[in-house]
Amino acid sequence: FNNRINSAGLNLNIASQRAPLLTALAALADKQWQACSLLANFTAPCSDSGLTQPVLSPHNTQHSVGRRTFAQAKEATFAITQSLTALNEWRAQAVAARASILVRLADLLESHQEEFISLCTREAGKLLQDGIDEVREAVDFCRYYAQQANTLLAPHTLAGYTGESNVLYAQGRGVFICISPWNFPLAIFIGQVSAALVTGNTVIAKPAPQTCLIAHLATQLAHQAGVPKAVLQLLLGGSELGQALVSDPRIGGVCFTGSHATAQHIHRTLAHHHGAIIPLIAETGGQNAMIVDSSALPEQVVQDVLRSAFQSAGQRCSALRVLYLQSDISERILTLLSGAMAELSVGDPALLATDVGPLIDPDAHARLSDHLVRLQDKQVIARTPLPANASQGHYFAPIAMLINSIKELSQEHFGPVLHVIIYQAEQLEQVIDDINDSGYGLTLGIHSRNQTLAHHIAQRATVGNVYINRDQIGAMVGVQPFGGQGLSGTGPKAGGPHYLTRFIIEKTITNNT
Ligand code: NAD
Ligand code: ALA
Repeated sequence: FNNRINSAGLNLNIASQRAPLLTALAALADKQWQACSLLANFTAPCSDSGLTQPVLSPHNTQHSVGRRTFAQAKEATFAITQSLTALNEWRAQAVAARASILVRLADLLESHQEEFISLCTREAGKLLQDGIDEVREAVDFCRYYAQQANTLLAPHTLAGYTGESNVLYAQGRGVFICISPWNFPLAIFIGQVSAALVTGNTVIAKPAPQTCLIAHLATQLAHQAGVPKAVLQLLLGGSELGQALVSDPRIGGVCFTGSHATAQHIHRTLAHHHGAIIPLIAETGGQNAMIVDSSALPEQVVQDVLRSAFQSAGQRCSALRVLYLQSDISERILTLLSGAMAELSVGDPALLATDVGPLIDPDAHARLSDHLVRLQDKQVIARTPLPANASQGHYFAPIAMLINSIKELSQEHFGPVLHVIIYQAEQLEQVIDDINDSGYGLTLGIHSRNQTLAHHIAQRATVGNVYINRDQIGAMVGVQPFGGQGLSGTGPKAGGPHYLTRFIIEKTITNNT
């Protein structure tokens, strides 16, 4: 376990890696997938129940990707009973045995990467590169948490009075409910589940309703890797099902990634439980800023702004939403930015040449459209043209617009909308205060060749991840532990050395031998 290195993934620039991928994707292009809940001791109907719906591609709503069957809320109770039955045996297993299963799962995810990449483009509307990164990150989570668990969960013998032995043990908390979003349908789904499992919890995973097919395939592979079916169950459905799961007093913990509003809702539900206090790990959204001072390199800034704001169609919690430009450099950067935005290619996420894919669904589109109506008196700096056939899917043209203050944004706007604010050098401290006052605290980008200033900003900002002179997305497992503070999350950081601690309880046994 100790020789872990991050997965290399596939490199689309290398023909010998690209060609076989494209061949595999072509063969999978019309495959129809099916997803249903995976419960122990119960065969859920995988299709043709009243709760079965077609899965349509965000890229083209005439394209069917398959069918998904939602569970009924009452199946939450059944699943938790099954999960409890399996708990003691799973918790009592040697850590190394559980960690080995994760390593096998990582290998299986890698050997099925073409299917996941295909599903990421077709079900989630993600670009090919995003799909590759999803698999890479999921694999990294499995291998990293396997490695971490072996160290963290080993019993600690502690010194004490002569004749006494003192040993500190770590064990799973119980039944963990893992609730994940659609925007990292594989990486976050697997990240949550692998952390909860390796620490000795049994898991009920409820992925986002938009990306059931990906979660279903990933869960099947986890079972194939050796996770017993009662130890990891999959329940497909939306908010009602999630609510039923977190309302059950028998659960041991909740791991949630999604919007701040949903996290608050779950938090309130857990607070109303009678009995034991149930921990919530919540990773939520951001109002992420980048501060660019006059010493920055304009070309590099523009490249990093494009990636931070528009990669994955801006549907990343880490994505750049508010770009602060020092006035002395703003004109040069805005000229370069609008030129670059005119060249972005919006369209089919499965094509190599595409820069920006679709939004996930019509609701996401409607929310962003409403936002633009509210900002209709603002100056538009650039808007990328949409292709002629954009109305076949949930496409939204990337836009950059000038606003006066971050206070004009009351919430996260989840998509390719970049707000730009021009500041004077003497306003820098106020800029940092304003960013902090938003209450969110996920990512912050800084572009400056003045390292002293960059470090000053980094220290003052109340955010979880600061990126200096680069883009601010794509945190790497075990290298850039990821997660926010304030409205953006509870921590500890995913892919970091403390993450697993929230999934365990500790027990000290003192023995006067
Ligand atoms: P969401 O909050 O709408 O849904 C997330 C999950 O919660 C889904 O599985 C959903 O079905 C479930 N859910 C909804 N209501 C529930 C309830 N009352 N009880 C229990 N479960 C419930 O978020 P989304 O639209 O799927 O994802 C996008 C959001 O996720 C954005 O805000 C983004 O910033 C955030 N996000 C954060 C991180 C991070 O690491 N900080 C990573 C990815 C996404
Ligand atoms: N971990 C993801 C990123 O950094 C959310 O973009």
